[in-house]
Amino acid sequence: MAEAFAPDALPADKTQRYAQLAQEIIAVTAGEPDVVAKMASCASMLAAAFEDYFWTGFYRVDPAKPGELVVGPYQGTLGCLRIPFGKGVCGAAAKEKRTQIVADVEAFPGHIACDSRSRSEVVVPVLDAQGHLIAVLDVDSTRLAAFDEADAEALEAIVRAVFAS
Ligand code: SME
Repeated sequence: MAEAFAPDALPADKTQRYAQLAQEIIAVTAGEPDVVAKMASCASMLAAAFEDYFWTGFYRVDPAKPGELVVGPYQGTLGCLRIPFGKGVCGAAAKEKRTQIVADVEAFPGHIACDSRSRSEVVVPVLDAQGHLIAVLDVDSTRLAAFDEADAEALEAIVRAVFAS
């Protein structure tokens, strides 16, 4: 059994904080084959580690409805249940299979306001070991421009390590 997760003990520096958090998430999820269990653990640990993470969670590619995302494990206020590919920030990340960093959600065409307190967000595609899109990881903040390339790269590295290896 791994030691208890202590977000308060993580380094203050953002890059170092992500690096240590990544190690802890990888340790917790190692050997776990269930994707939902891994998503739930990631959402919980990420949300506990950063003040800016107001909504943290996954939208999964629905195998029963091609071209649609369905909400998965998350931490935060009530999220929309379904998002079509191409709609909003999550839909754009899914359609383009590319990370989206949005400094002001109101300036993003088609943004879906699940909670009007969300002001900025970063959404990262989640691929499996075969390179298939299985979900997107969505992180929203109540602050404008809360996320930058460093957040995007760190989140990409975490989802790669947890879901694609
Ligand atoms: N912000 C997202 C919608 C999902 S929620 O905010 C939880 C979007 O526009 O893709």
